[in-house]
This record gives sequence, C-alpha cells and structure tokens, in this order.
Amino acid sequence: MLRLYPQPVATVPLKGLYLDAPLVPNEPAERLFVYGNFVMSLDGRIAIAQPPNAHQTVPSTTANPRDWRLFQELAGHADVLISSGRYLRDLAAGQAQDSLPIGSAGAFADIRRWRRRNGLAAQPDVVFLSEDLDFPLPKALLQEGRTISIFTANTPPREQIAELAAQGVSVERFVGNGRIDGKDIVARLTALGYRRAYCVAGPQVLHTLASAGCLDTLFLTTVHRLLGGSDFSTIMQGALLDAPLDYRLRWLYYDAASPAGAGQMFARYDCR
Ligand SMILES: NC(=O)c1ccc[n+]([C@@H]2O[C@H](COP(=O)([O-])OP(=O)(O)OC[C@H]3O[C@@H](n4cnc5c(N)ncnc54)[C@H](OP(=O)(O)O)[C@@H]3O)[C@@H](O)[C@H]2O)c1
Repeated sequence: MLRLYPQPVATVPLKGLYLDAPLVPNEPAERLFVYGNFVMSLDGRIAIAQPPNAHQTVPSTTANPRDWRLFQELAGHADVLISSGRYLRDLAAGQAQDSLPIGSAGAFADIRRWRRRNGLAAQPDVVFLSEDLDFPLPKALLQEGRTISIFTANTPPREQIAELAAQGVSVERFVGNGRIDGKDIVARLTALGYRRAYCVAGPQVLHTLASAGCLDTLFLTTVHRLLGGSDFSTIMQGALLDAPLDYRLRWLYYDAASPAGAGQMFARYDCR
C-alpha cells in the first residue's frame, strides 16, 4: 500500500495500519471520542438492494477482506460500538453482513491480544439505537461477554423491558419521541464511562451523530468501482444540515491490490 498523505509518499503494510496508529489526536481528552467507518463505491453507494426481497446490504462488489481487516482494527480501539435496531433484525433474519467485531477468526487474534495489552475488554460493549425495538436478541450475541444496552426515545412496554433485563440487557430511555438526539447519546455514553465509541451503524445513525456535532472522525474506504442503481444509499441520511460540517484529511492510503485489482483508497477525516 502507498501512503499518499501525510507526505512523504511511502510503502506501508496494511496490517496494523489503523491498530498501531493513535486514534485520538491530542490525548488525553476527558470526553468521548466518536468515530465511524464506511466502505463505498466511486458513485457513493454503501448498500444496494439484493434479490429476492430487495433487502439492502453492503454490496459484495465493494466489501473486501482488506477493508474488513481495517474495520476490525478500528473496532480494536473501541470500548463501545454504536449499532442499530436494523442490524438486530438483519441478524435474526440471517441477513447481517457478519457478527459484530472483534471477529473470532484467527486472522484477528492479534487485535484481541492488542486489546488485552492495552487494558481493554475482550470485546467492546454494544449500544443499539432503536425507535421501534422490534427485534429479538440472539443468544449468541448475549454470550459474547459484552455489556449490551438499548437506547430509545420511545416508551417500550414494561414487559419488554423486564424481559430484556432478564437477559442482562438494559434499556435506556431518552426524552423525545422516536429519534434520540446525538448529543444525548454522547452524554449518556460519557456518563457510563466510555471513552471511544465506534459507530458501525449506517446513514441514519451517522446523521444523528454528525448533525449534532458529535462525529470526531470519519474513516472512508472508496472502492474504485461504479455500481449504478436507483436505490441510492450513501453514508448520511437525514435532514439537510443548516451549514456544512467541515472535515480535514488526516490520512490517505492507496491500495492497488484490492478488490480484484480495481484499487481502493483508505481515508481518515477529522472534524475541524
Ligand atoms: N458500506 C458500509 O460501510 C455500511 C456501513 C453500515 C451500514 N451499511 C448499510 O446501510 C444500511 C442501513 O444500515 P443501518 O440500518 O444500520 O443504519 P441506519 O440507517 O443508521 O439505522 C437505522 C435504524 O437505526 C435506528 N436509529 C437510527 N437513528 C436513530 C436515532 N437517532 N434514535 C433512535 N434510533 C435510531 C432505527 O432503528 P429501528 O428501526 O429499530 O427503530 C433505524 O431504523 C444497511 O443496508 C447496511 O448494510 C453499510
């Protein structure tokens, strides 16, 4: 791989690229650091509808093992993941892209060791944002040794809260009706003692966090392929922002090898 920025240009290995580099600029900051990551095509697609039921998933034409390795390395730094109710529905339907990181494959053993060396739990905890809470929690997820919470701005029935509590899952209720404000999410995660939150959800959650001024860093993989399609899904979905949010390029790497020789860029953008 080539590091294009910062200069000088240099050849660097993929493994360890995101794990060994400092995640948080100017540590220590006594607040939560929030970061997200997407892989997209040149035409900005992060998900496409797949037959037979037009279910939206990350296209196999952009997903690739080298990007997946970096996705896992980013999770290596996290003490909590932010995911969505949609992920749990996909998981139950057997349509989720994969289990939540850190993956159990031997290829990620070094990330698990890195976490131990750095005093982190074996697996990051997970917070699922949901308006509807219409999902089951798979047993396997409950047995991974993570603390699991659900954040909602709705009022779930008492029985549902009790049932979740019996499974060891807490439901945190927020003011509002439906969607939770990004600032409230960050305030609550901070109060719970978390320092590094990795958003592994999609465009609505990214909008929730970024529009509230809470997205510190965005990692973006751009696969050099055009996909087309009319079911457009890009990294952020929600109301137009009153003013653009500016991010500055911090890192840029060119990976000529993958996928299938098309090439891809790995970029990191930090909020100004
Ligand atoms: N290419 C990539 O790198 C990448 C990365 C992530 C996701 N994706 C794809 O993007 C698509 C959408 O993913 P996603 O559904 O996880 O992402 P999402 O659009 O961010 O999340 C959707 C769900 O999250 C909950 N939610 C979002 N914002 C909320 C808020 N402020 N308050 C309360 N609940 C909130 C709602 O759950 P309920 O419906 O339960 O109320 C909502 O339906 C999927 O096809 C996924 O595969 C692609």
